[in-house]
Amino acid sequence: MKVTVVGAGAVGASCAEYIAIKNFASEVVLLDIKEGFAEGKAMDLMQTASLNGFDTKITGITNDYSVTANSDICVITSGIPRKPGMTREELIGINAGIVKAVSSSLVKHSPNTILIVVSNPMDTMAYLASKATGLQKHRIIGMGGALDSARFKYRLAEALEAPISDVDGMVLGGHSDTGMIPLTRLATRNSVPVSKFLSAERLEQVKEDTKVGGATLTKLLGTSAWYAPGAAVSSLVQAIACNQKKMFPCSVLLDGEYGLKDICIGVPVILGRNGIESIVEMELTEAEKTNMHKSAEAVRKTNGLLEL
Ligand code: 2OP
Repeated sequence: MKVTVVGAGAVGASCAEYIAIKNFASEVVLLDIKEGFAEGKAMDLMQTASLNGFDTKITGITNDYSVTANSDICVITSGIPRKPGMTREELIGINAGIVKAVSSSLVKHSPNTILIVVSNPMDTMAYLASKATGLQKHRIIGMGGALDSARFKYRLAEALEAPISDVDGMVLGGHSDTGMIPLTRLATRNSVPVSKFLSAERLEQVKEDTKVGGATLTKLLGTSAWYAPGAAVSSLVQAIACNQKKMFPCSVLLDGEYGLKDICIGVPVILGRNGIESIVEMELTEAEKTNMHKSAEAVRKTNGLLEL
């Protein structure tokens, strides 16, 4: 199993690290445009192998896509991250050109790859990668919902004063401060609805804290987060590589599901060796459906800025 991660910045390096530590891939190629940077990160990570007990071989390379040839899975983290006060949408001007070029180069060398897009604004970048590469829709996955759901569970556990392993929940919709839809109605603590333990006001607070999860960290760190994004990507890569058939909310190209077409947005999917094995259509309330359509409208507005 060969995995390429493009972008050796904090998110890309964290992806490579978690993939290696989970020890399911034979090879990870880390590629960056900055001379020697990916090589340095790869060497540093490889020097943790005997300490962390993994056999994955991590190779760093400066901008030579031939080294990525025949990757089973490619992850795109390249582009500029948010600075405090910026929205993900404001990154489109620079990141669109990068994601278009990177996705085309990757697919040229790995025509049968499964592409995971992390660069922001993620739903629009996943849509762009799909248009730029022409890959079948089950091979393009935008990573946002897995991260947002992890942040939702963190906030739920905090409010419940419970261990995170007791908590289950999911976030649908666009990966943006206003577009996320944390499904508080369906969140549970060991199968018991969380509304049994938390007031409507406290749940509303959990929802709001989840939606600004990325912005909160950007303010604290001065740049966008990397541990949870890296861990979320590694979970998607592992589900595909190990044919786990695990369910995650991911941004995928819809063709009528949830009443939406020709848009990438977060919905629950089953991930296995073919990438997206199926899209799970949940029964949403009228209010949740309205939120989903509002979120889709915002994503479409950003998609409208693309030069396809
Ligand atoms: C985040 O929410 C990087 O968009 C990513 O942290």
